[in-house]
Amino acid sequence: PVLILDFGSQYTHLITRRIRQLSILTVCINGTCPLAVIAALNPRVIILSGGPHSVHADGAPSFADGFLHYAEENGVPVLGICYGMQLLVQKLGGEVSIGVKHEYGKMEIAVVDESGFFGPEASRGHQTVWMSHGDEAIRLPEGFKVVARSVQGSVAAIEHPSKRFYGLQYHPEVTHSPKGMELLRHFLIDICGVPAEWKMEDVLEEQIKYVKSLVGPDDHVICGLSGGVDSTVAAMLVHKAIGDRLHCLFIDNGLLRFKERERVMACFKNDLHLPVTCTDASEQFLKKLKGVKDPERKRKIIGEEFIRVFEDFAPKVESKVGKRPAFLLQGTLYPDVIESCPPPGSGRTHSHTIKSHHNVGGLPHRMNLKLIEPLKLLFKDEVRRLGKILNVSESFLKRHPFPGPGLAVRVLGDVTEGNALNILREVDEIFIQAIKDAGLYDIIWQAFAVFLPVRSVGVQGDQRTHANAVVLRAITSEDGMTADWYYFDHKFLVDVVSKICNQVRGVNRVCQDITSKPPATVEWE
Ligand code: XMP
Repeated sequence: PVLILDFGSQYTHLITRRIRQLSILTVCINGTCPLAVIAALNPRVIILSGGPHSVHADGAPSFADGFLHYAEENGVPVLGICYGMQLLVQKLGGEVSIGVKHEYGKMEIAVVDESGFFGPEASRGHQTVWMSHGDEAIRLPEGFKVVARSVQGSVAAIEHPSKRFYGLQYHPEVTHSPKGMELLRHFLIDICGVPAEWKMEDVLEEQIKYVKSLVGPDDHVICGLSGGVDSTVAAMLVHKAIGDRLHCLFIDNGLLRFKERERVMACFKNDLHLPVTCTDASEQFLKKLKGVKDPERKRKIIGEEFIRVFEDFAPKVESKVGKRPAFLLQGTLYPDVIESCPPPGSGRTHSHTIKSHHNVGGLPHRMNLKLIEPLKLLFKDEVRRLGKILNVSESFLKRHPFPGPGLAVRVLGDVTEGNALNILREVDEIFIQAIKDAGLYDIIWQAFAVFLPVRSVGVQGDQRTHANAVVLRAITSEDGMTADWYYFDHKFLVDVVSKICNQVRGVNRVCQDITSKPPATVEWE
C-alpha cells in the first residue's frame, strides 16, 4: 500500500481518502510507530502527514530512528506534506526557521523547475493552494532542489530526485488546492509507479480468503446484527466465506423504530439469506430503564444489557452445533480504528469521549472470543460499494445511521413513561415517510423525531388539549462529526405537521431543530 505516517494533521484522513479515490490502497498509521511496523506493511510509497506542531517544539513527534535509511535502502519514495516536509528537511540536515511569515489559507504558488515532480498538468502557470504553516524551510539539505515557490518567495515544493525524497509545504489533499489531486496522481502513478488497481472486488476476495484462513473448518462465528449497513455487510462477507457456520443475532431491545424488527428480519431472511436468530428482549431492557433519566446512565444500562443478551447466545449456538463459537464478528470501520488511537497532541478526539457510545468493547474478552473485523480498512462509502457487490439492495445500503441505544436517546428522560416510545415511533415514521416521498432521503444524512417530556396547551376540534411536544431533526453531514440542519420547504413542513397532529394521539405541538453541530450534537441525549 501507500503508507501515511500520521503526525496529527486534521487533514490526514483526507489524504487517505484522496489516494483511495485514485484506486490505490492507502493505510494510515501513527507517525511515531516503530520501524518494524512500517517494514511489515511493505509500503510502495510513504507520505509524512502535516501536524499541529513546530519541529522545534519539545516532544515534536517524529518518525522512528533509521526511517530515512530504511526508505533510501529500499528505494521507497517519501513525500512530506507541511510538517512532514519540515521534518524531512530538519532530519536531513537542512534548516527550518520558526515562522515569521505565517502563511495561512489560500496562496498562489508557481512551479520554478518544470523537471520536478509536479508533471505537465499541475505545472502550468500560477496555481492556488492551501497553506497552513508558521515554520518554513530556509536552507535545504544537500542534493535538494526547489520545485515551486509561493508568490511571497518561500519554498512550496522540494525534491531530491535520486534519493526519491519529496516535500510540499501546502496541502494538496484539500479542495482549496484545485490541482492537488492531479499532482498526487502524477506523483504516485507516473513517478512512483504505483499501480492504480485497488478494486472492491479484490477487497472482497482478499477478505474472504483471510476469513477462511482464520476460521478453522469446524469453527463457528457469532455476530450481532443491528440492522445497520456495517454489521450487515460484514455478515454477508463472512457468510460467503464460511456459510452457515456464521450465527447472527438480532436483538429487539424495545428501542427500535416503527416496525423495524419485522422489516429488517424480512430483509435478512428473504433477500440476504443470512442465518439470523431474533430475540425479543424488550421487556428486559425496558425494565432496567424504568425511572432512569440520566442520558449516560441510560447508555450504560443498554450496553450492559446488550452484553447480557449476547452472552446467552453463545451457549445456544453451542447446543445446536455441538461446539462453542470461537470468533466474534464486528463491523468495525477504518475511522473507528484510527480515531481510537490518534497521535499525541493532535487535538483529535472521537465522539466516544463526548458520549459513551454503545458498543460491545468488553465482549470478546469476557466471552473468550477472537475478533474478526473484515471492514477495518474501509470507509463507509467503500463499505457501501462492497455491499453492492454482495447484492445488498441500494435502499438498504443508503439507510441513515441509527444509534445503538436507539430511541432511548430520542425520548428525553424516562423512556418508559406513558406511551412515549409508541408516540415517537408514529411521529418518526410519518416524518421519514414524508422525506422518502419527497425524494429527500438520500440528500439528508440523518433524520428523526425526538419526544419531549413537556406538555403544552393546544386546541384540537373544539377541545382544549394538554399534550406532548415533538421535535423534527434533519441534518446534512459528511461523517456526523459536524452537521448542518436541513432547510425544508414551507409546504413540506406544513403537510408533515398536519399529518402528525391529525394522526398521532398525544401530540399537539411540533417543533423543528435548527441547530447545527457544533454547538449541538446530532442526537438530543
Ligand atoms: P452525536 O449525537 O454524537 O451523533 O452528534 C453523531 C452520530 O453518532 C450517532 N450516535 C451514536 N451511535 N451509539 C451509536 O452507535 C451511540 O451511543 C450514539 N450516539 C450518537 C448519531 O446518531 C449520529 O449519527
